[in-house]
Amino acid sequence: MLREDLGGGLELSLAVPQQAEALYALVDRNRDHLRRWLPFVDATRSPDDARAFLEGQLRGLIEGRSLTAALFFRGELVGLASLNRIDPVNRTTAIGYWIDEAASGQGLVTRAVRRLIDLAFQHFPVDRVEIHCAPDNVPSCKIPERLGFTREAVLRRALRAHEFVDDRVVWGLLREEWPG
Ligand SMILES: CC(C)(COP(=O)(O)OP(=O)(O)OC[C@H]1O[C@@H](n2cnc3c(N)ncnc32)[C@H](O)[C@@H]1OP(=O)(O)O)[C@@H](O)C(=O)NCCC(=O)NCCS
Repeated sequence: MLREDLGGGLELSLAVPQQAEALYALVDRNRDHLRRWLPFVDATRSPDDARAFLEGQLRGLIEGRSLTAALFFRGELVGLASLNRIDPVNRTTAIGYWIDEAASGQGLVTRAVRRLIDLAFQHFPVDRVEIHCAPDNVPSCKIPERLGFTREAVLRRALRAHEFVDDRVVWGLLREEWPG
């Protein structure tokens, strides 16, 4: 997956350091939208911070720990979705995602996550995919629900983003439950 057309104007591309300027601009105009749920926002203060993040994600791919995809909609970078913490011993990974507020509400993240699940089961040593979200993050929790995940557990006070502390809902999907 260097760059893949998912149709309807949505493309998935490997996230690379060359996207640092665009990624920083995207985070910068979505600070209010993102910072309630995601811990990296206040620490992202310049394109160099975005570049360091993207370089780390590339190292993660080389080392088999992660796969981060950039979401492009009609040619513009609009968000990220990733396989995180790929664990070949326990054969698990956890998917994370976020999108430009202006591009939300039209199924782009659901479609990107569906493709990432295909890639996880096809190309990575995993038999189980997790998605973690705060119970109050309704748009986020709807994504695993829509994709057929099981709501398995609630870990109390296990999610932090800036000054916010939330419970962590763990959604799980097993290889044999995935129609893809
Ligand atoms: C959580 C977040 C990624 C969800 O993004 P989103 O755009 O709402 O999610 P989707 O792209 O899947 O869109 C779903 C919506 O599109 C609609 N939709 C339209 N076409 C669709 C399609 N083909 N498939 C699925 N949904 C579709 C759905 O009905 C749904 O609308 P609803 O919320 O009114 O029910 C986004 O709100 C976000 O970035 N939030 C801030 C960061 C964050 O919380 N990240 C997750 C941390 S755990």
